[in-house]
Amino acid sequence: MNILILGSGGREHTFAWKISQSPLCKKLFIAPGNGGTSRYGENIYVDINNFDEIKNLVIDNKIDFVLVGPEDPLVNGIVDYFEQSYELKNVKIFGPNKLGAQLEGSKSFSKSFMKRHNIPSAKFKSFNLNEVDEGIKFLRNSSPPFVLKADGLAAGKGVIISKDLESAENSFKNMLINKQFGEASKKVLIEEFLSGIEISCFIITDGENYISLPEAKDYKRIGENDTGLNTGGMGAVSPVNFYDEEFEKKVENRIIKRTIQGLKKDNIPFKGFLFIGLMNVNGDPFVIEYNVRMGDPETQVVIPRIKNDFLKVLLSCIDIDLKNTKINIDRKTTSTVILTSKGYPEKYKKGFKISGLKEIKNSIIFHAGTTEEEENILSNGGRVIACTGVGKNISESLQVSYELARKIDWEGKYYRKDIGKDLMK
Ligand code: AMP
Ligand code: GLY
Repeated sequence: MNILILGSGGREHTFAWKISQSPLCKKLFIAPGNGGTSRYGENIYVDINNFDEIKNLVIDNKIDFVLVGPEDPLVNGIVDYFEQSYELKNVKIFGPNKLGAQLEGSKSFSKSFMKRHNIPSAKFKSFNLNEVDEGIKFLRNSSPPFVLKADGLAAGKGVIISKDLESAENSFKNMLINKQFGEASKKVLIEEFLSGIEISCFIITDGENYISLPEAKDYKRIGENDTGLNTGGMGAVSPVNFYDEEFEKKVENRIIKRTIQGLKKDNIPFKGFLFIGLMNVNGDPFVIEYNVRMGDPETQVVIPRIKNDFLKVLLSCIDIDLKNTKINIDRKTTSTVILTSKGYPEKYKKGFKISGLKEIKNSIIFHAGTTEEEENILSNGGRVIACTGVGKNISESLQVSYELARKIDWEGKYYRKDIGKDLMK
């Protein structure tokens, strides 16, 4: 088959690495891809939200299967566009349609869904521009910390947690009245604060059945000991020691099964990844959010543990045949350490020449934000390289990740030195 992966990050590089290993993969394209994906296929420039452009690319290259990496095209309806286009009707595309993608695209949609189907999650109330006074009153009657969320997609930045009432009120007004996150904060949710440890859990569902992928822990803050600004993710580890059999059963029974039943009851067809961000509150799982795609950097530790032909798994989902698919997980531990540009997640410079990549053999390096220029690989984003290690246990895999992190270099490289430390105690 000819395959197209949409996206340009570490997640998409990982997909390209894995899918290129499938005997079913004849030709692989990554659009737009990055400096690392070209090792596994052909990079083609495309705007991932320009569906007409993607359609031409698919027709010209006789693509049979499209894997959508990031959420935006899904939330914007790329799957519906394919289904409605006469020329694309027979092209398989992996991911939910626009309605299903609302689980990530609108927090009020997903929170109402969870409430309706009795899925444990933080209590909430949502407010629009006509309800600013009610929102302020609600905040004054709540207790800190205050959790404010923009309803729509805000590139991972739409959540503000504040300990004092005055700054929460200001943030709330700023989001709604001053449209801090543009259209995304036309509606704002105020949520109960959940205290616990976060974990990322992933399934693939065809709407009828599901398979669980390995869980992972993501390190979101820029600074060590989880301090400083939120980022896209600075590292990840899989498996996670507190995700034991008992916790997993709770997640299955209280969250995953109710979610799939709920989708069916609400007539929401759903085929694709479902990434469930969970909070472990004293041993009980609560949903923080749904995403309708894989996590990044979680993909860089989850996919290397999957022994199956991953393309076959994705195809069986599209064909609503997951009940006959068994996932085969490697018992080894994987970890990834993200190398970032100085200044990220705020302002940073790009275009620095990266050294040390060519010398690395037999290791898994995934590019997150790079570009190729002649013989050189240049930094081209905030998150630049993911150093994935595999080991018998967490300390062994972290040793590999950190060795890679030290060897690869460019001006202004930064990484957290404490990824996975909390899980080694
Ligand atoms: P989200 O974009 O919904 O994943 O939120 C971003 C981050 O904010 C999460 O990863 C959590 O660390 C934190 N967060 C979100 N909602 C809550 C909540 N209700 N209680 C505590 N922390 C939260
Ligand atoms: N690492 C979190 C995310 O992909 O949203």
